[in-house]
Amino acid sequence: LFQPERKNSKGWDLTALDQIEEFDAGRAAFKSATWRSEPILATEEPAEGDEVLPVTNPADPSDVVGEVVMSSKADVESAIAHARRWQAPASTRGATLRRAADLFEENAHEFFALTAREAGKTPKDAVAELREAVDFLRYYAARGEELKDPARGTFACISPWNFPLAIFTGQVAAALAAGNAVLAKPAESTPLTAALGVRLLHEAGVPRDALQLLPGAGKVVGAAITSDPRIAGVCFTGSTETAIGIDRAMAANMDPTAPLIAETGGLNAMIVDSTALPEQAVRDIVVSAFQSAGQRCSALRMLYLQEDIADRFLEMLKGAAEEMGIGDPWSHSTDVGPVIDARAEKGIVEHVEKARAEGRLMWQLATPEKGFYVGPALIKLGGIEELEREIFGPVLHVATFKSTEIDDVIDAVNATGYGLTFGLHTRIDDRVEHVTRRVHVGNLYVNRNQIGAIVGSQPFGGEGLSGTGPKAGGPNYVARFTEPMRIASQP
Ligand code: NAD
Ligand code: ALA
Repeated sequence: LFQPERKNSKGWDLTALDQIEEFDAGRAAFKSATWRSEPILATEEPAEGDEVLPVTNPADPSDVVGEVVMSSKADVESAIAHARRWQAPASTRGATLRRAADLFEENAHEFFALTAREAGKTPKDAVAELREAVDFLRYYAARGEELKDPARGTFACISPWNFPLAIFTGQVAAALAAGNAVLAKPAESTPLTAALGVRLLHEAGVPRDALQLLPGAGKVVGAAITSDPRIAGVCFTGSTETAIGIDRAMAANMDPTAPLIAETGGLNAMIVDSTALPEQAVRDIVVSAFQSAGQRCSALRMLYLQEDIADRFLEMLKGAAEEMGIGDPWSHSTDVGPVIDARAEKGIVEHVEKARAEGRLMWQLATPEKGFYVGPALIKLGGIEELEREIFGPVLHVATFKSTEIDDVIDAVNATGYGLTFGLHTRIDDRVEHVTRRVHVGNLYVNRNQIGAIVGSQPFGGEGLSGTGPKAGGPNYVARFTEPMRIASQP
């Protein structure tokens, strides 16, 4: 896992003035550009296409970022029929994916502008998004070169809008590194970023029949490619509910050995005990709960504070939250951008308003009027068992516990059935060991924030309702896209 020769993308240091100036100058050309996404098929004939829809900026819906041509049934059929495994040797595949990583970095400014305008990414998030995509390409290229087993065939890769570049690229890169063909279906809200990624992968040398793009609705295009017996496996990131539906469709229609690699939602908690360093814990809570407007599967949803420190701590947390900039994701002073669309805004606002009506809303920061925004909020609960679903936005819930109740807290977290991330702030070494043994999660973070896993050094993925494994950005991921060979010989 720890390869001394491996280097992650160096990214942009947005605390250095010269790099901020370079970042701004580069992306300025794309401030009012428009993009187009359409089915990118293996055949020479143009895609048939279905309806054409506008893609707009969640921070300002009057800003039209481009348009998407949704894939027709005939396009899906053509893509499945013409998909071909990537037959090139592993070393050629690896070199091509590394070339794609270089091209992604060369086109960084276009990605920064596009992810800001299509997905509401702040400068910090846009940089992290690109770095992670580049890291996936290089890391999976190397893992593909180590494989002994053959590709499976054609993979359906289905990605969410909250990491329109990183997760989209990670899924595709892993399947390609193993030598499969890929049908990539991006989320409805973010087809433009995906299209730019696919264009650069083709430019790097990935054959068109090994990588096709099928923008379209989940219930139409996604459902078609996850229930077709010609598909050898599905790589999915999104909600737990959708993953369960895909699992059923695969079981009914596909070869029973076809793998489903699913990374799904979480009800992520953090415990802060009375020995924690409050300044550090407050900073890590603000980042974990509100960065990316809380639209990360890893984000902190449920904070448990030891009751002796709770009042003073909540005062500090409110003070820190009030310092956050909420607004236009293009601006460097923005910490919290918009949520993805009107539907997301409505669902989160309803949750906050219910809490307000029940007298449980402790505070909510001001919400910008234009665009799809929800002011970051803190809601009091008795415990995580009262959180009925994953609230995918900038809303944190808080409960208190007595020092004797720590096992009850962990048991309640485990009882949700989710197991993605968990945070612990304490200076008691025995407690770290005890919590580590008792809690059932994929990624446990101690005395730091609980988002932003790094490819190659922090493999990421959950258990239970949060995912099937193997962990993304880890040593076992690419191998799951191959067919394990069973060779037996006469003793
Ligand atoms: P979603 O499940 O609504 O959609 C994800 C993708 O599935 C989209 O491309 C969508 O079009 C497609 N889809 C929808 N219905 C489908 C169907 N019937 N058949 C096939 N495909 C279908 O999720 P979302 O709202 O885009 O993303 C947010 C969710 O993703 C959250 O729950 C979040 O926790 C989760 N997520 C998990 C991880 C992780 O690594 N564990 C990372 C990011 C997001
Ligand atoms: N991998 C992403 C994170 O760690 C989801 O925040």
